[in-house]
Amino acid sequence: MDNIALITGASSGFGEATARKLVSKGWQLVLVARRIERLKSLQNELGDLVLDCIELDVCDRDAVKLALSPWNGKITLLVNNAGLAVGLDPAWDADLDDWDRMVDTNIKGLTYVTRAVLSGMVENKRGHVINLGSIAGSYNYPGGNCYGATKAFVERFSTNLRADLHGSKVRVTNIEPGFSYTEFSKVRFKGDDEKAEALYDNATPLSAEDIAESIVWCASLPEHVNINRLEIMPTCQSFGALPISRDAGA
Ligand SMILES: NC(=O)c1ccc[n+]([C@@H]2O[C@H](COP(=O)([O-])OP(=O)(O)OC[C@H]3O[C@@H](n4cnc5c(N)ncnc54)[C@H](OP(=O)(O)O)[C@@H]3O)[C@@H](O)[C@H]2O)c1
Repeated sequence: MDNIALITGASSGFGEATARKLVSKGWQLVLVARRIERLKSLQNELGDLVLDCIELDVCDRDAVKLALSPWNGKITLLVNNAGLAVGLDPAWDADLDDWDRMVDTNIKGLTYVTRAVLSGMVENKRGHVINLGSIAGSYNYPGGNCYGATKAFVERFSTNLRADLHGSKVRVTNIEPGFSYTEFSKVRFKGDDEKAEALYDNATPLSAEDIAESIVWCASLPEHVNINRLEIMPTCQSFGALPISRDAGA
């Protein structure tokens, strides 16, 4: 059986870098995103190993089923990468539309895509689901409210999948990156590129290639090895003290 990877969110960032790295190792690819023109240009660059480019909003449950069911049974690696953070407002000010988008994409979309190709992996007794969680699923920060909660879901969904998949030989990994340089912050700040770029001033974040390297490493290990979680930060990022409010009276 050929190595065929389905990558969601392959039009940018981690997904695009993972596509490049997997092709360099001889993998065949099915690429998914909403911006089809970007997928097509990646296909032009990467050549025949890209089997298909699918214009798809992962939040659209019926469309996901329709577009991906022909690939069920053929996919050996699912990189569940499509996702986003929108906004950084405190919970009482946050836009509920932003929260809906994060829940719909990071939680519901990820489950729809998983469901569309998982039964084929189980039947073949071969496959690997690599989810893109985040350190935000484990560590709290102001304004991380709903985004962090969606990534906590991804972490728990990943380990629960492992429980369901016991004995099936299908692997599941949750990759949990920290501060990284992709289009992620542009999306979070809704196109305010200046604000997004300022985050990276005088810092050395992880690159999309760093994360792609870890995804490809997990996927290339012998089949009896399952990396459950992989938490990765740039050296410039670490942990802070838990703050104490001294004047709130609570
Ligand atoms: N960068 C970070 O600091 C960081 C840290 C930890 C975790 N992550 C996670 O890593 C994953 C990839 O993010 P990134 O940093 O590579 O950001 P990015 O450069 O903005 O890429 C996000 C990708 O997701 C796709 N996407 C978003 N909504 C989609 C939808 N509804 N349907 C289909 N595709 C959709 C986008 O494609 P289209 O817009 O073309 O649809 C794009 O290809 C996300 O799950 C993110 O939460 C990022």
